[in-house]
Amino acid sequence: MKNILVTGGAGFIGSAFVRHMVASYPDYNIICFDKLTYAGNIDNLLPVSDEENYRFERGDVADRSAVSRVLREYRIDTVVNFAAESHVDRSILAPDAFIHTDVVGVYILLDEGRKHGIERFCQVSTDEVYGDIEDGLSLEDDRFLPNSPYAASKAGGELMVRAYHATYGMDTVITRGSNTYGPYQYPEKLVPFFTTEAIDDRPLPLYGDGEQIRDWLYVDDHARGVDRILHYGATGEAYNLAGENQRNNIEVTTRILKLLGKPDSLIRHVPDREGHDRRYAMSAEKARALGWRRQFDFETGLEATVRWYQENEWWWRKIKTGEYLDYYKQQYAERLASVE
Ligand code: NAD
Ligand code: DAU
Repeated sequence: MKNILVTGGAGFIGSAFVRHMVASYPDYNIICFDKLTYAGNIDNLLPVSDEENYRFERGDVADRSAVSRVLREYRIDTVVNFAAESHVDRSILAPDAFIHTDVVGVYILLDEGRKHGIERFCQVSTDEVYGDIEDGLSLEDDRFLPNSPYAASKAGGELMVRAYHATYGMDTVITRGSNTYGPYQYPEKLVPFFTTEAIDDRPLPLYGDGEQIRDWLYVDDHARGVDRILHYGATGEAYNLAGENQRNNIEVTTRILKLLGKPDSLIRHVPDREGHDRRYAMSAEKARALGWRRQFDFETGLEATVRWYQENEWWWRKIKTGEYLDYYKQQYAERLASVE
């Protein structure tokens, strides 16, 4: 029997992981611990809400007493940390919350986890810690060159994990996922943002020349990858989870429009994101050696994703109100006005 604390489990990838673990391991208890920030959404966990091996606790990973209480009450032996502020554009507007959750939160989880004698700590990280890579593929031992406050905060969190392994001998593993897309993704990220805007015939603000390259990974493949590394990863090691589906943003955008039967004239080339990385690309060899392989190619995954947003307006229409519209105005109003 394992008692697994999944922090950030009400977000996009964390909820896919919770749904996957609850269904795949009836002998494990899966406890989701989430602050429910603007990006956290209890609707993402509706498919498991009645399952016996699932519980939900609301709380902040940087709140030591709350973390200590759940570790003790549920006799947690394993922590998988998805909790993060995760959107690059928001980190450029206001970095504070990123330091709180992605750096201090990781430290509190490690520190309390050590005191409570947890057996394994899995940190979910990102390819953004490597920074821009002009050509070739990033390897796990490459140096960190993060360029946004988000990427730097994730790198800081990772270094704390490394230190707890080296200093206190904690059993840790780290996953570095590439750009993930799929159902239940908050509609501020490229794929769900452009899909839901295009459904409503609204302009799609493509940053700069749109030639930036990302490596796209379907969310269920990401969740299975974290499961694999959690169970089979060597202690103290990091593993890339690469989609091996490199595409530039123009191609992603035109493909979304084609799937929806909408015209390319919805695209607007707006002023670029500050410090915008041109390309991320990682080698998947190390995770492959542990038996992980992505199952979705980009075309199949994107089609399934776009259909999901078409069929699940109940999920995203209620998000695109209130705080979301304030953020939209701050991020896009001037950019779009400058090219009209
Ligand atoms: P998300 O923004 O959809 O979800 C983040 C979740 O964390 C939300 O449920 C939120 O409520 C919760 N959270 C935020 N601050 C918290 C706090 N202080 N305490 C407790 N919970 C808190 O993010 P996502 O896209 O699902 O990303 C999950 C993880 O995967 C992050 O660590 C991110 O850095 C990493 N990652 C994401 C991608 C991607 O493309 N989305 C790729 C690689 C790695
Ligand atoms: O690479 C992994 C990372 O992928 C994760 O660690 C992050 O949590 C996740 O948000 C994502 O970061 P990106 O910045 O790559 O994702 P985003 O969806 O914000 O942007 C993808 C690309 O699309 C990027 O080159 C910027 C561009 N873009 C994005 C938005 C939101 C636009 O051109 N216009 C937009 O409005």
